[in-house]
Amino acid sequence: MAYSEYRTGLGWDTHRIATGRPLLLGGVRIECEFGLEGHSDADVLAHAVTDALLGATAQGDIGMHFPDTDPRWKGADSLKLLKHAVDLASAQGFDIVNVDTTVILERPKLKDYRLAIRESLAATLGIAVDRVSVKFKTAEKVGPVGEGRSAEAQAIAMLGRRAG
Ligand code: C5P
Ligand code: MG
Repeated sequence: MAYSEYRTGLGWDTHRIATGRPLLLGGVRIECEFGLEGHSDADVLAHAVTDALLGATAQGDIGMHFPDTDPRWKGADSLKLLKHAVDLASAQGFDIVNVDTTVILERPKLKDYRLAIRESLAATLGIAVDRVSVKFKTAEKVGPVGEGRSAEAQAIAMLGRRAG
């Protein structure tokens, strides 16, 4: 596919760890005795990818489109927010070329979920799985993530504007 221009976008998010909450990453439910706090379903990875797409197209950030004070987004499925960012990009003529992400969480081990998360994100992004990368890191027991108080996610996206 020939593109008339390329854009990159950066996304980052963090959520506090809490008991009695689900742990969702890229729309995949992770087996765990704790989850993440938040107004929506607190899918920290989906939020970082959403901001990367909004960043590439300079369309603000996730909180601008989905304020956490708005009851409509309480418990929201974050993949729906992500799909909205995909649609906003597409409306401006952009295709997603690839997305690369890192989830920083001390535990549980996430590597066995990698393919399921990549498949879930790829389905929402409307691109092939080999264009979606998901990496995992601990924080080496240092700082709020390392002490098991929070989770973080980072994402970068490349978008191409369809020629003509
Ligand atoms: O953070 P660290 O470099 O020690 O991570 C080592 C490996 O453990 C990484 O390659 C990553 O895939 C995996 N990992 C994981 N789940 C985590 C953190 C890291 O599967 N929560
Ligand atoms: Mg968030």
